Amino acid sequence: MGTNRQNLSDITNWDEFLTPYFQTVEELTVKLNFISNELTVNGLHSPIERVYGRVKHVASIIEKANRKDVPFNKIREKIEDIAGVRVICKFVEDIDHVVQLLRMRDGFDLKIIQERDYINNAKPSGYQSYHVIVRYKVMTVTGPMEISAEIQIRTLAMNFWATIEHSLKYKYNGNIPEDLKQRLIASAQAAHKLDIEMSKIHDEITEAQQVVLVREGLVNSITKKIHNLYFIATLEKANELNREFIEIYQTCNLEELSAFNDKLTTIAHVYNVDAY
Ligand code: GTP
Ligand code: MG
Repeated sequence: MGTNRQNLSDITNWDEFLTPYFQTVEELTVKLNFISNELTVNGLHSPIERVYGRVKHVASIIEKANRKDVPFNKIREKIEDIAGVRVICKFVEDIDHVVQLLRMRDGFDLKIIQERDYINNAKPSGYQSYHVIVRYKVMTVTGPMEISAEIQIRTLAMNFWATIEHSLKYKYNGNIPEDLKQRLIASAQAAHKLDIEMSKIHDEITEAQQVVLVREGLVNSITKKIHNLYFIATLEKANELNREFIEIYQTCNLEELSAFNDKLTTIAHVYNVDAY
């Protein structure tokens, strides 16, 4: 009884109760944003488009505790989404990447408690998202504390849908009319189709980018070799090769560029120069 009273009075001070949750949300947000920065700085694609964080409002915590029959002194332990972080991705495959990055941290600065895959198992409402429930250790002035957090990972399209559906649920007090529910299910399917289509377009962009990279590499290598030949071969020979290069370059044909590069390597060997 004494302990219960203590716990109850603890939670009456909501600001104090919620402080480590605010810290958790802030720290997780910073860390997730730095994953994105680190990848971008290294010229890599970041799977993270945006990170949002929020701490559940007191009214919602009380509502959820009542709904789930959680006594006040068990709220910290049983309600796992008081600290919530949302990671928004452009493409569905980015979600997997984010999950892998989180798994890499498992046991380092967070513990993964549970993963909920509402992407392969969409909710009856149509809701899609990937949830990772973690325990995160924060340092407070009275010592370390383990705080539960829910990380929701979803695409822009999934987020668009969930945001609209959430506002409607709010508007209708949780009882969305049946016809609207059906339309929401249909729009969730449309969002899913959009995600699939965007992934395909993404693949094409990646392919195109790779072609550009290969061409740049070949052109670099060819021009260096021709430049060298101006010093070691006859001027006529170097000029002739340069003209040949310009012609091939204009055709934009990768195979021809590659063959020409090989030819220059052979010529360079004849002149006994480094071929690179
Ligand atoms: P609550 O739904 O919060 O009671 O938690 P739960 O323990 O049932 O967990 P669940 O994984 O079902 O949901 C966790 C969170 O996912 C919710 O708080 C929402 O943010 C989100 N969510 C789940 N289902 C839906 C849905 O149908 N629509 C929307 N918009 N969000 C959902
Ligand atoms: Mg639920």
